[in-house]
Amino acid sequence: MTTARTEFIVCAPGRVNLIGEHTDYNAGFVLPMAIDRGLRIAVRPRPGRTALVSSDRGGPPVAIDLAGPHAAGRTDWGRYLEGVVAGYRRLGWEIPGFEAVITADLPAGGGLSSSAALEVGMATAIEALCGRELPTADKAVLCQRAEHEFAGVPCGIMDQFAVAFGRAGHALLLDCRSREIRLVPLADEVEFLVIDSGVKHALADGGYAARRRDCEAAAARLGRPALRDVSADEWATVEPTLPEPERRRARHVVHENDRVLGFAAALEAGDWKAAGRLMNASHASLRDDFEVSCRELDLIAAAARGVAGVFGCRMTGGGFGGCAVALVEAARAAAIMAEVRRRCGAALGTDPTIFVTAAAAGARLADG
Ligand code: GLA
Repeated sequence: MTTARTEFIVCAPGRVNLIGEHTDYNAGFVLPMAIDRGLRIAVRPRPGRTALVSSDRGGPPVAIDLAGPHAAGRTDWGRYLEGVVAGYRRLGWEIPGFEAVITADLPAGGGLSSSAALEVGMATAIEALCGRELPTADKAVLCQRAEHEFAGVPCGIMDQFAVAFGRAGHALLLDCRSREIRLVPLADEVEFLVIDSGVKHALADGGYAARRRDCEAAAARLGRPALRDVSADEWATVEPTLPEPERRRARHVVHENDRVLGFAAALEAGDWKAAGRLMNASHASLRDDFEVSCRELDLIAAAARGVAGVFGCRMTGGGFGGCAVALVEAARAAAIMAEVRRRCGAALGTDPTIFVTAAAAGARLADG
């Protein structure tokens, strides 16, 4: 893109992580895909140096002074936008005034990266307005920094990378150390179901940051740069040297990295049963060792697995609420979804939101 645009629409997808949870900030492996739900951001010019952004979720529009200064500390959803604007201003970009209207078909705070969609979507809009582009990885890292500094969540790079690099029909096997992406094609024989627990997570509440600290403390105690540098083969030797809860946290991360690679291989080989088993093992580890699941997600995972045609089911995203994802047989997906809905509804006592999702392209302009 070399010419500045004035009036356009950005599509920014959400993401579902298929496997590899809490491994990204341990320099490990993740396997997310961008999904066919997300945000649409309709942008048009506005005189002056202010951005006015409104959302179909209601509330007054948020205003961002594009001439700065940009201080962290906002508590409204404008903090994500302010953080992204601050990132481009730091690079010396002059952003012209604009108005934007956001419509979403993604649950907010539902573990499908609504905040990364907002950040990367806004970054894509700013690049179009300025007629310049950062390399995609730099754009994603700028958005991650916005999340760290303006939303107070010390997240890894998975969400912003998935939203920025998504590819239709593919999951992304991302090495969070080298930032290399291998595209893993998704076969027609299977589909992914997303089941929303309805429990809103708030990663900034401290649980996420506490897990990250436990992992970093474990790596430091072992004298390794990151838990990525501990292999599953050496775990038995390493395990007794760690105190709790670091031991449990590290056990999750070390084996989850292995599960990601095993899952990618199983998808490529069409071995759905093996893939499903790895999803189930990931859930158990997140529940018991990493302690980021919740009662509703455990009930959903157990109920969904009881349905014929479901290969595996696990919580997805940071946890403490949000969504579960299930790998299911495509040919019977509609009937499976109805039965999963019935059983989850009975277990939870409320009807969960549930949908089949497909891998989609990353954030982009609607017409190009
Ligand atoms: C959140 C974070 C990600 C990642 C996941 C857990 O989604 O934003 O960076 O750590 O939790 O896998």
